[in-house]
Amino acid sequence: MAQALEALTEDEDTAFVQFWNDVLAPKFIRFKHVLVGGLTQHSAAIFPNLPVKAGDRVLDVGCGFGDTALELAERVGPTGHVVGVDCCDAFLDYARKDARDRGVTNVTFLRADAEIALPQEEFDFVFARFGTMFFANPVAGLRNMCAALRPGGRMVHIVWRNRADNPWLSMAKDIVLQFLPAPGDDAQTCGPGPFSMANETNVRAMMEAAGYDDITFRRVDAPVMVGNDVQDAIDFQLAIGPAGEVFREAGTQALSQEDQIRAALAEAITKQKIAAEGIVMDSSSWVISATKPLN
Ligand SMILES: C[S@@+](CC[C@H](N)C(=O)[O-])C[C@H]1O[C@@H](n2cnc3c(N)ncnc32)[C@H](O)[C@@H]1O
Repeated sequence: MAQALEALTEDEDTAFVQFWNDVLAPKFIRFKHVLVGGLTQHSAAIFPNLPVKAGDRVLDVGCGFGDTALELAERVGPTGHVVGVDCCDAFLDYARKDARDRGVTNVTFLRADAEIALPQEEFDFVFARFGTMFFANPVAGLRNMCAALRPGGRMVHIVWRNRADNPWLSMAKDIVLQFLPAPGDDAQTCGPGPFSMANETNVRAMMEAAGYDDITFRRVDAPVMVGNDVQDAIDFQLAIGPAGEVFREAGTQALSQEDQIRAALAEAITKQKIAAEGIVMDSSSWVISATKPLN
């Protein structure tokens, strides 16, 4: 069993954690079909070769709806176990329900802010899919992940590469910015944001400062579904991600220009690839692997 973390009360949450719970969780739940489906493309490319075996203890940081934690639980089998950690109650509710419905008993889901504390039980493997880019203090979060590993244990985190190779997130922002101002320095956000770990040199330095060795970067390109249809894709872009942030922060100005913004987005989205599952756009991530030194 995972060693219990001292529960933080809601009024001890950072502004970022409050933002995830209060503002982003309902939007992520509405667009779960886009997010889980899209993000899975990037973990599917590496899951077959992850250094995880039967009996391992695994920690999944920023586990969201819990799908990767459940997949890892299957991998480690009845003699291993997985702990999924997230700062957002609503996502953990989904994860726990899924585990119950599927009869998975070797997984535990805990609420925690990874920048503050993680379970300390010498995990063999620590994983995070698109969670670490939101750490306000990335070295602190990465260091906590390193501390959670046994000496010699491995970690893998997946983060977005640069904007240019991620039109599924950047294209809509560029369009919305033709109508609305960029968010100010006082914007309410979920942390540094999706591209904060795009620069290999900077992230390598963060990883070294956090205590890791043997750091490697592998690029994964994958098409992602951005909506079932054009309308769904527009709704998604105006709710979540960089375009959603511009739209949200512009408040009443955004609402007064919403028709024109939607029309411009529709024109651009209609030109994207339309597959059986919906509108498809390109995305690109780094899969970053590292080891906790033996001493
Ligand atoms: C983009 S979502 C990815 C979720 C999931 N890993 C996936 O791939 O579907 C980022 C996740 O990180 C969580 N998160 C952000 N900051 C966190 C923190 N400081 N501690 C724990 N979880 C955090 C969010 O609540 C959210 O579930």
